[in-house]
Amino acid sequence: DFGCFSYDPGFTITASCKSKITYIDGDRGILLYRGYPIEQLAENCDFIEVAYLLLQGELPNATQFRDFNLEISDRAIIHEALRKFFDGFHYDAHPMAMLVGVVGSLAAFYHKEMNVKDPQHRWICATRMIGKISTIAAASYRHSIGRPFVYPRMDLNYCENFLNMMFSRSSQTYIDQDHYIDPFLVKALNLLFILHADHEQNASTSTVRLAGSTGANPYACVAAGIAALWGPAHGGANEAVLNMLAQIGCAENVPKYIAKAKDVNDPFRLMGFGHRVYKNFDPRATIIRKTCHELLSKFQKNDPLFELALVLEEHALKDEYFIERKLYPNVDFYSGIIYKALNIPVDMFTVMFAIARTAGWVSHWLEMQEEQPGMPIGRPRQLYLGPQRRDFIPINQR
Ligand code: SDX
Repeated sequence: DFGCFSYDPGFTITASCKSKITYIDGDRGILLYRGYPIEQLAENCDFIEVAYLLLQGELPNATQFRDFNLEISDRAIIHEALRKFFDGFHYDAHPMAMLVGVVGSLAAFYHKEMNVKDPQHRWICATRMIGKISTIAAASYRHSIGRPFVYPRMDLNYCENFLNMMFSRSSQTYIDQDHYIDPFLVKALNLLFILHADHEQNASTSTVRLAGSTGANPYACVAAGIAALWGPAHGGANEAVLNMLAQIGCAENVPKYIAKAKDVNDPFRLMGFGHRVYKNFDPRATIIRKTCHELLSKFQKNDPLFELALVLEEHALKDEYFIERKLYPNVDFYSGIIYKALNIPVDMFTVMFAIARTAGWVSHWLEMQEEQPGMPIGRPRQLYLGPQRRDFIPINQR
């Protein structure tokens, strides 16, 4: 009963969609990709291996993995005309804004021969998107610092390629050896990409599925997902965590900000804490926390921001308010710290999330096309809370 009148929506609220890709048990803190525990995948896999699993439903054998890796590397190069889009962006444009725009423009490059009813075409869409997202992401960063773009290389794996495209000091030569990539950093990035690859029907994946249900161009659907991910309540939280830590400033201020987060009249929330589904520890946060502490000790990152994050975590985990509401650190709390330790600029944090989640988005898009051909267009319903029927009043009588 909504006070003014009782309301029978006339329908039961059921699960928004069916999928075989990812399973989450929020109360028990369980996350499975195609039935495999995230802990085992994080420990043993390469990100591209996991991308194959999400797309195909099975882990690849050695030949399948080699061929898939080559296909992704081969598709990582972007059309020279696509690079011109960056010239239109001001140097300080937010990389997520550039990502939305340039990924959306892929729909202008790949639409003529696009036949989503053809499995081969669908597969090419998926591998092209996974290959190109990291190149476009790195190009967004290079544009923002006024450096020449770096081409992807066939002799590097996905994470090495991304770090090279981001940080290589080279010009635009295809092969350059002047940039050493620390294997520990590659391992940390590989882990982050695996943990962020998919997460059931989160806001951005639901956006991609809703757009995909209309039969829209798949690249345009991914651009819609990128836009949804950008919000600070969702994928933008990792950037918001670092901005929050900078706002808190020092460990002495932690109690004050914990009090602000608990104050119902204060809009301040602890970024990186809480989750729509996990009412227990986010399993990804458990995995990433260990790597975060390893990374900080290995690189002696005595950045006060890292110390502050650990003090904040300690205070929140002991506070009744957070314990009662089952507000634990989520994946974004620690990922921001690791990205900072990898020297990724803060405004690129959500871009990193988008690179990884592209594997999940295209897997869900593919699943929809394959499993539900002629699927009904998505059409969420609502609980109407507005006025009941009433007659028009002419303006001279209002
Ligand atoms: C991601 O869906 C996914 O799977 C997303 C994601 C993925 O992989 O795709 O996991 C990635 O988006 C992780 C979440 C990142 N966002 C943040 O870290 C932003 C900070 N978190 C909050 O905005 C919030 O926790 C949400 C949005 C994540 C979840 O909110 P819920 O489940 O809707 O919780 P709620 O709003 O119902 O809050 C319940 C209570 C409220 O207090 P009371 O009304 O009971 O007094 O908890 C409080 C809230 O005020 N609360 C917080 C809080 N989060 C909830 N109080 C302080 N700080 C917080 N972060």
